Amino acid sequence: MDIIELIDKKKSGKKLTQKEWEFFVSGVCNGQIKDYQTSSMLMAMYLKDLEFEETYNLTMAMANSGKVLNLDDIGECLDKHSTGGVSDTTTLVVVPVLASIGVKVAKMSGRSLGHTGGTADKMEVFQGYNTEISTYKFKELIAKNNASIISQSDDFAVADKILYKLRSETGTVDNISLIASSIMSKKIACGAKLLVLDVKYGSGAFMKTEKDAKQLAKIMKDIGARCGIKVCAVISNMNQPLTPYIGNNFEVYSALKVLDGLDNNLSNLSKVLCEEALLLCGKCQTKMQAEMLINDAIKSGKAKQKLIEIVSAQNGSVEYINNPEKLIKENRFIEINSEYDGYLQKFDTAQLGNIAHSLQKIDGKIIRQDDVGIILNKNVGDYIKNGEKIMTVYYNQLDDKDELIEEIKKSFCVGKKPKTAKLVDNILK
Ligand code: URA
Repeated sequence: MDIIELIDKKKSGKKLTQKEWEFFVSGVCNGQIKDYQTSSMLMAMYLKDLEFEETYNLTMAMANSGKVLNLDDIGECLDKHSTGGVSDTTTLVVVPVLASIGVKVAKMSGRSLGHTGGTADKMEVFQGYNTEISTYKFKELIAKNNASIISQSDDFAVADKILYKLRSETGTVDNISLIASSIMSKKIACGAKLLVLDVKYGSGAFMKTEKDAKQLAKIMKDIGARCGIKVCAVISNMNQPLTPYIGNNFEVYSALKVLDGLDNNLSNLSKVLCEEALLLCGKCQTKMQAEMLINDAIKSGKAKQKLIEIVSAQNGSVEYINNPEKLIKENRFIEINSEYDGYLQKFDTAQLGNIAHSLQKIDGKIIRQDDVGIILNKNVGDYIKNGEKIMTVYYNQLDDKDELIEEIKKSFCVGKKPKTAKLVDNILK
């Protein structure tokens, strides 16, 4: 078997066998297959697509390309994963709510990827929080506190790291089979047997349409079913950021406000994800039961107390949890105002995510700054008068202010037609 043979086979649309996928993945990891050959194979996969059987075999080979965690000794654990969005802070709400109800949550999170944020970065807003504890300590904390949130180390699903980098450099990211295998290989390696997926579609998501999001969700569910993971998928809208707050400090602030009882899109989606999790793990038999438990966890302060336990156990400061307002510091800012009367038609959400990310640049280099970002003053569908504020951009240093303002003006559109926006579209069980 050699890689040229496999490229030729895939290029002509033929189906690769399990052995061939294993050969490909091991060659990618041990360096016998060169990056240019992998890139060529990725493009063949992208153009000819993979059958389900192939996606499954690729996923398993990727999952087994690094460490695979066994969590069986601490009981049935649940994981939650979002396919990535902007101001998507549900993990900071969902994990403490579920853990306070008695669900064991094993959460390995990613870093910011392109325009999307990363939960591991947000957890580090709690000064001193260690996202890189050993897997032994991870399991110990789940057994003790019902939850731990860590960053996924490079030892898991090693092939995904290599393939993802090449995909992002070769225009092969937005393929359903490649996304499904990337996400599910990591989830399988993390060891949880229950998985709630939040599959996003829209201008701020990898999937642009609801139909593609549903197809991605179905493939990931089917992969889970085949390897013994119970998966439930919520399809949600990312045509605008989930909250008005974009940027690490701001997003942590918005999650803390939800744990304090604020009702908004973030609380609504987080509650849907918690409901599905409670039904999936069998803690509740009906939605109504689940709703009651979730509302009580928030109202009673148990969920917030649980977040304090989770953060303290990993050496994080709880100062912000007790005083969320401290996360919103006075910074330099630019206000962006509407130049027309009309309804806010849409946001280019990915563009907003990219702009928020670029605010971390100092002299052209990204230097992590948690106190920069964007606060939206309007939602899609709002009526806006000429001169009214649409958003405020907070920064420390800008290379070119005029260029930034021009970019921001391209990220929204005001028009005459009234507009409505949906949040959750579908739940696949
Ligand atoms: N998230 C991932 O982990 N992988 C993808 O391919 C896309 C989103």
